[in-house]
Amino acid sequence: MLDTFEIESRYTSGVYAKRHVTIVRGEGALLYDDQGREYIDCVGGQGTANLGHGNAAVAAAIAAQAQKLISCPEIFPNDQRAALMARLCELTGLPRVFLCNSGTEAVEAAIKFARAATRRTEIVAAMRGFHGRTFGALSATWNRAYREPFEPLVPGFKHVPYNHLEALSQAVNENTAAVMLEVVQGEGGVYAGSAEYLRGAHKLCEERGALLIVDEVQTGFGRTGKMFAIQHHDLHPDLLCLAKSIAGGLPMGATLIGERLGTLPGHIHGSTFGGNPLACAASLAALSEMERLDLPARAAENGAHFRERLQEINSPVIREVRGLGLLVGVELKRKSAPFIQALMGRGVMALSAGMNVIRFLPPLVITREQLDSVTDQLTLVLAQPVREE
Ligand SMILES: Cc1ncc(COP(=O)(O)O)c(C=O)c1O
Repeated sequence: MLDTFEIESRYTSGVYAKRHVTIVRGEGALLYDDQGREYIDCVGGQGTANLGHGNAAVAAAIAAQAQKLISCPEIFPNDQRAALMARLCELTGLPRVFLCNSGTEAVEAAIKFARAATRRTEIVAAMRGFHGRTFGALSATWNRAYREPFEPLVPGFKHVPYNHLEALSQAVNENTAAVMLEVVQGEGGVYAGSAEYLRGAHKLCEERGALLIVDEVQTGFGRTGKMFAIQHHDLHPDLLCLAKSIAGGLPMGATLIGERLGTLPGHIHGSTFGGNPLACAASLAALSEMERLDLPARAAENGAHFRERLQEINSPVIREVRGLGLLVGVELKRKSAPFIQALMGRGVMALSAGMNVIRFLPPLVITREQLDSVTDQLTLVLAQPVREE
């Protein structure tokens, strides 16, 4: 009989590199496989599980709403959606919102809205930036391995070095619809933007009639130690892209829209599933739970503690420890994949970010003890010989 790994391997599209472990259950910051083995989860559903696994309030809200109404397209107002829209606008300080189903869709909407509002066509994005896999978002993404198989991409996208205001200034002109940036580049290797750069980028956009799109798909909802990473820098973008943990793990995305966009023409965009009552109810419950559990503050405190502990590891393999809140990267002088594999064997799930960085993206409910245990396991793994593929 085939096991789960073999069945998935037989039927999968093949676009994912699958790990040889079948996850069947989660609780808080822990995952369990089909053999009952426990793992400390520093993958965190790739950023969708900020609240932790098995949150009772979110589960109850989903169950109650599923009994009441799951489907309701945006041509009809709905109580859950209305409440969520008001809540997201209040939380972000932006006046309007478009709801969709994923990060890449939130980015796609932002690109379209920026082009429609400015009647300009170019987008300036950053080297090492990651914005998603659909054509517009992919065109804004830097990594050649993701882009090249699909060229030609959407025309009019330029990439400039991140954290380099002068390079940005040279790229933004009268054809620029928007500049698109992450506050911390997640996939690209965990690089934080400086306040000077991010605020400078916004000022530049205002001066030249372009819009600033901030992609907080990975950094949003407490991850970096504030509800949104823009709040570290008093940054007020014109478009803000959110997704991942927005609905307690259910698929949802949102594009917040600022005043400078004016009134968008009707019918220029839409989504059948966007703003469905099930995801909206889950999101409302998730937002309340994030507040009740004070997750941004916990991410700030435990993230600082975790980075300090990681910095204490005395290993010639480590080049740098960096991050903000609980978005943490450990850059190695070697490829990260074998170390991530070895960590899994020791009960810790982690991610990569580029070739050399181990990325830790745990649920924000993770405890100090669990983070200390991750540090201990990493110390052991770095001290052992690993096989480079
Ligand atoms: C910053 C950023 N933007 C966009 C995306 C795309 O999100 P999704 O995979 O939900 O389409 C990601 C996903 O990792 C991301 O990190």
